Amino acid sequence: MENNNFKPITTDKETFEKTIISNSIKDTKNLGICIGNIIKDGDSILLSGDLGAGKTELVRYIVEGSGNDSFVRSPTFVLINNYSGEKNITHCDFYRIDLGAEVEEIGIEEYYENSTVIIEWPEKIINNLPSDSVIVKILFTENEDQRKIMLYSTGSKSKKLINKIK
Ligand SMILES: Nc1ncnc2c1ncn2[C@@H]1O[C@H](COP(=O)(O)OP(=O)(O)OP(=O)(O)O)[C@@H](O)[C@H]1O
Ligand SMILES: [Mg+2]
Repeated sequence: MENNNFKPITTDKETFEKTIISNSIKDTKNLGICIGNIIKDGDSILLSGDLGAGKTELVRYIVEGSGNDSFVRSPTFVLINNYSGEKNITHCDFYRIDLGAEVEEIGIEEYYENSTVIIEWPEKIINNLPSDSVIVKILFTENEDQRKIMLYSTGSKSKKLINKIK
């Protein structure tokens, strides 16, 4: 699963905020639940990590923490899964789209205001990402069940969100 060629997303505006070490899926669950509790419509979260890093697992727990009991699966074929409830979550996975694709063609911009947009493989739409996003970089370590999770802000809204985590 590990691929040494993978480089997490890097953007001009990003500011490093904090690192969280997840030693097990349970730690990732706690983080996701915490994020799910605090997100609001209009927030956006970019998940950058190699295949199997744990992006979808984190989405699953964010949705759970937001109070929505939908079953989260990888939106590999449909690109976008929408979970609507007390909080709306738009879960995108752009692994299969062409590099540099236009978001207008994909149609996610309409969700930016009215839901929390969570994007797996944001590298694919690097020029059309929502401004002021939490960037989550998930890295493998030598330990199979451990992940190094680094959080970055790209504006004041994402910085505030990260400051509320744990
Ligand atoms: N600490 C951990 N946090 C998250 N996942 C973990 C951890 N330890 C092991 N895992 C395992 O890593 C895998 C993560 O899979 P997941 O589908 O979430 O990856 P992904 O980043 O979404 O990959 P893809 O790019 O293929 O969509 C799961 O099998 C999960 O059980
Ligand atoms: Mg995934």
